Amino acid sequence: MRDKQGFFREEKEGGARVIRLKDVEKEYENGTYALRGITLTIEDGEFVFLVGPSGSGKSTIIKLLTGEILPSSGRVVVNGFSLTKISDRQIPLLRRSIGVIFQDFRLIEKKTVYENLSFAMRAVGATPRTIKNRIPYVLKLVGLEEKADQYPHELSGGEQQRVAIARALVNNPYTIIADEPTGNLDPARSLEIMRLLGRINELGTTVVVVTHERDLVNRFHKRVVLLEQGLITGDGVGYDAK
Ligand SMILES: Nc1ncnc2c1ncn2[C@@H]1O[C@H](COP(=O)(O)OP(=O)(O)O)[C@@H](O)[C@H]1O
Ligand SMILES: [Mg+2]
Repeated sequence: MRDKQGFFREEKEGGARVIRLKDVEKEYENGTYALRGITLTIEDGEFVFLVGPSGSGKSTIIKLLTGEILPSSGRVVVNGFSLTKISDRQIPLLRRSIGVIFQDFRLIEKKTVYENLSFAMRAVGATPRTIKNRIPYVLKLVGLEEKADQYPHELSGGEQQRVAIARALVNNPYTIIADEPTGNLDPARSLEIMRLLGRINELGTTVVVVTHERDLVNRFHKRVVLLEQGLITGDGVGYDAK
């Protein structure tokens, strides 16, 4: 199936584009009990803030969703892929259905903005024609069409994070997952990044954002899932609405 951008999409198991965690527990090898029974559903097209104090298990949830780690018990289903039953062959398809953004940007310093994006597209086998069509579209979306030939160190922190967002989007994922994307940015830049993620969500991509910035979260009227000591202790609109 091809979308508006002419980009190939894999048909997922049942076409599902839902994130579902059911009774998920995670005990790390050293005995740390990071998640103590998490049940959470994120529907196609939602925008969700995942908040909570340091050490509450937010990044552990993100790592479960990306397939980086497995739960000790319970079920994790992402975009039709069951993470506890996924085969090695399916992992690249799962990874392609999600775009991940980190606090520290993780751009390739020796490559230009354009090359960072084309590299991510070639990695999933995109054709030169698709690459040529898609990159200007995503650069425009993040407001960096003038910066294609710059290197990461020539950009501000906010611009680098926008490149990382463009890279996360370039393979047209169903879901964007961001772990503390504004952790290295000043308040004005942070607000810009959150607004951009909001716009991406309005264009149809599910967005899950981890942050502990209460004031920032409360500027948006969005679903907030609160995590404390490995348990969900709140789920509603606004950080303080518990
Ligand atoms: N690889 C690991 N090995 C052992 N313990 C870990 C590991 N990663 C995280 N933890 C622990 O699991 C708990 C939850 O961590 P994390 O999910 O990173 O929390 P958050 O992102 O909310 O700060 C913490 O107690 C942390 O120290
Ligand atoms: Mg974390």
